Amino acid sequence: MLKQLVPRLAKAGIDGSVLLEDNRQLIREDPKYGVRFLLLKPDDVPTYVEYGAADLGIVGRDVLLEREYDLFAPLDLGIGKCRMMVCGRAGEGIPPTLGRSIRVATKFPNIATRHFRASGLPIELIYVQGSVELAPLTGLADVIVDLVETGETLRQNGLEPFELICDISSVVVANRVGFKLKQRAIEPLLEVLRDGPLG
Ligand code: PRP
Repeated sequence: MLKQLVPRLAKAGIDGSVLLEDNRQLIREDPKYGVRFLLLKPDDVPTYVEYGAADLGIVGRDVLLEREYDLFAPLDLGIGKCRMMVCGRAGEGIPPTLGRSIRVATKFPNIATRHFRASGLPIELIYVQGSVELAPLTGLADVIVDLVETGETLRQNGLEPFELICDISSVVVANRVGFKLKQRAIEPLLEVLRDGPLG
């Protein structure tokens, strides 16, 4: 996502090349523009913005769909594109629910629960933190709900996508109060970021 973001920032006159440097610094800066970047785990981005420790955040929509935040999301950047999908062993499909629930392993319990509730299928949810592709291969679960970008991870593990839940991309989030206070600085920046090449 950073590789796609840096050219977009450049359109706004922000030098984001520090974001691509291979080091362990968690705060990086473009002193000329007066912007400070915080490198965070995706799940922590909304938290920093919600508490006002960051003015703006860039995060995958999956994070916002999984948990509820009191944030303003003024812009979808159209980068970091992937899909939230139901996947499982190639050729098998979602199993019939005759007499039992479908076992679903995922890092996204709320997204998965909402999806299967809407399709009326009973599920047993199994929460895992990563390497979720292992679940259907080992019998831990029938299917997984996970992000698919190129599909390579699925292919290399003998899995395939069964069903699309939603498209995901990176969005800009802002603290509601902070956005109002700094609107004059933030809005022109969002305008330029909005006009960037999609990709
Ligand atoms: C995501 C996702 C898949 C993989 C899909 O994991 O959970 O494992 O990317 O990408 P692909 O379709 O291009 O192969 P990520 O790399 O974000 O790591 P994570 O397991 O730590 O979430």
